[in-house]
Amino acid sequence: MEAARIYSSHVKRGICFAGRIAEMFLEYVKYYRWGENGMNDLEMYREQLAMCDDKIIDALVERNAIVEKIMEYKEMYGMPVLQPAQEKKQEQRRQERLQDNCYREEIEDVFGRIVRNSRKIQARKLFHYNIVLIGFMGSGKSTVSDYLSMMFAMDVIEMDQVIAEQQEMSIPDIFETYGEEYFRNLETNLLVEMQSRQNVIISCGGGVAMRDENVAEMKKNGRVVLLTASPQTVYERVKDSGERPLLSGNKNVEYIAGLMEKRREKYEAAADIVIQTDGKTVLQICEELVTKLVELDEEDV
Ligand code: S3P
Repeated sequence: MEAARIYSSHVKRGICFAGRIAEMFLEYVKYYRWGENGMNDLEMYREQLAMCDDKIIDALVERNAIVEKIMEYKEMYGMPVLQPAQEKKQEQRRQERLQDNCYREEIEDVFGRIVRNSRKIQARKLFHYNIVLIGFMGSGKSTVSDYLSMMFAMDVIEMDQVIAEQQEMSIPDIFETYGEEYFRNLETNLLVEMQSRQNVIISCGGGVAMRDENVAEMKKNGRVVLLTASPQTVYERVKDSGERPLLSGNKNVEYIAGLMEKRREKYEAAADIVIQTDGKTVLQICEELVTKLVELDEEDV
């Protein structure tokens, strides 16, 4: 009897073990079905994914080379580099194509990056230096630097803003608390610091070009662009701003004209190129800026 009981218990354990093996085999089959070529489906999908990545890489290389060709073509035929209307058209075409696509959001996100990187490629090709904007208050330095930054995906260093952030104080408060000389030294220090940056736009405060040592810093690694505007235009642009301590109590065309005249010689001596901004759109100003910088480079060759 005892022998029979032991025998039956072994048989039961054996069945249980066999059952477990069968279960594991089924699990295995469930997750790793073998394809005809000896590759299971998961491996096959991974292989397909890798091939898709290769296609994306090839397409991006091709796309970037076309971007460079377009730039060369525009340059050869003296065409404007900045063509926002054309970019808009291209974007519309993409959106139409993606209209009913279930991955629309994800694909648009990727295209945002692609377009941004094309702009960077253009910027690197056009400017191997920093673009330093100088000029009187209200001459359009911030507006132009924002637009250039968007069109060429370049970083902007807005000097007043960086100084205000570093000091945790507004510019008028710095003037009032520490005086103008202190502020001017902050400007010089920041310019020196900025020499480590490349292919950026530096938007200077209106007084930065007054110090010769500052101009020497700007020219180490950058081209200096002077933006000009008439006293009347400057007045219109700054009349509602409370951010210009030098104009507080003197916000009128005569005062602006006087200070502008005092600074004119220094501004002009610092400038590599000059752009008059009255009555022009920001696109026209930026286009002129790019054309003049490219011409300057051609002269230098
Ligand atoms: C100044 C111009 C201001 C600012 C500060 C002094 C100047 O910058 O740096 O108020 O001396 O012309 P914006 O030219 O950007 O207004």
